[in-house]
Amino acid sequence: MQRVLVTGANRGIGLELCKQLKTRGDEVIAVCRQSSPALDALGLRVEDSIDVTDAESLAGLAQRLEGVRLDLLINCAGIMGRNSLDKLDVESIRKQFEVNAIAPLRVSTTLLPLLGEGSKIAIITSRMGSIADNDSGGAYGYRMSKAAVNMAGKSLAIDLREQGIAVALLHPGWVRTDMTGHTGLIDSDESAKTLLARIDSLQLSETGAFWHQNGEALPW
Ligand SMILES: NC(=O)c1ccc[n+]([C@@H]2O[C@H](COP(=O)([O-])OP(=O)(O)OC[C@H]3O[C@@H](n4cnc5c(N)ncnc54)[C@H](OP(=O)(O)O)[C@@H]3O)[C@@H](O)[C@H]2O)c1
Repeated sequence: MQRVLVTGANRGIGLELCKQLKTRGDEVIAVCRQSSPALDALGLRVEDSIDVTDAESLAGLAQRLEGVRLDLLINCAGIMGRNSLDKLDVESIRKQFEVNAIAPLRVSTTLLPLLGEGSKIAIITSRMGSIADNDSGGAYGYRMSKAAVNMAGKSLAIDLREQGIAVALLHPGWVRTDMTGHTGLIDSDESAKTLLARIDSLQLSETGAFWHQNGEALPW
């Protein structure tokens, strides 16, 4: 049994991760701004009113969790704006940086006292943050913020290695959720199942890896 904290737990991939973790017997702390009937139905410990971009909110979460040891932290909360070259909305780009890039770093460092040797941090990023893989352009805010979180995750991996904490950057696939308007190639149950397989297999020797949920190593 592992104790796992998941952000973005009220819907989409985060919700499905919570469901599968619970089913396999892990103890889940589901973090969200506002719970949902689907999350409530899982009967988990839900920590709501947590906005991952808000420092005070995160400090409150750390206080509520004082003394709790986490085996795994999954940073799943994220947003996607549609910023094409002719419709650059700088505020939207800034917001995506806050949620997708700064928040996973801030959540991880705020909750670091709860992690220890053998703990893991998973950051749900996107292959759209890969510079090498970008062959279609556009999506400025999303691509830039996911590239930035990849760098944050890589530095975290290096900085936390000595403490025995492994970090993985994981692309969940193209998943049918609200974010994609329920288009995509896979459903969130398949995404969550394969993400958990990647996280389970993560060794400290591979810390800083950038993986597709299907197990492929992704280029930066
Ligand atoms: N779906 C895909 O194909 C795909 C592909 C690549 C990467 N990803 C990544 O996978 C992760 C999950 O995506 P998804 O498809 O499950 O998206 P989703 O269904 O739109 O869910 C997004 C989640 O993030 C939460 N969130 C957003 N802003 C937040 C904030 N400021 N504070 C706290 N929570 C916040 C949302 O909570 P609220 O309900 O409160 O808004 C929701 O729980 C994201 O990081 C996304 O970038 C998804």
